[in-house]
Amino acid sequence: MPEVRVTRRMHFSAAHRLFRREWSDKHNTSVFGDCSNPNWHGHNYELEVTVLGPVDPETGYVVDLKELRDLVQVRVVDDVDHKNLNLDVHWMKGILPSTENLVVAIWNRLVDGLPASVRLERVRLKETPRNFVEYTGD
Ligand code: NI
Repeated sequence: MPEVRVTRRMHFSAAHRLFRREWSDKHNTSVFGDCSNPNWHGHNYELEVTVLGPVDPETGYVVDLKELRDLVQVRVVDDVDHKNLNLDVHWMKGILPSTENLVVAIWNRLVDGLPASVRLERVRLKETPRNFVEYTGD
């Protein structure tokens, strides 16, 4: 049976600051640039969640996209949209909210919630139109 990748794209906006408390403001700025602004700033994130599975011969679907959308909405987007990633998101507590760390945390939020017929293949997170990261569970 053919296996097909299916992707759902979602969107959220969130604030953050990249900094290490034990570093000076100057050192934080030299490493993290504008993302270390002490008074926060925001990004418009694009999130793409890809699952892989066999095509159901009856429905022609790999996954009910509404089910996938609802999972990402409830487990991720509702927690982060219009929130502060440093302060408001319980599953980012104590984690530096870089795009890399955020994509791994999002993977961990989703990986055990999918229908048994599919597996999580890739999570892609775009922090800006030009910069994105991907995690495949490795
Ligand atoms: Ni930033």
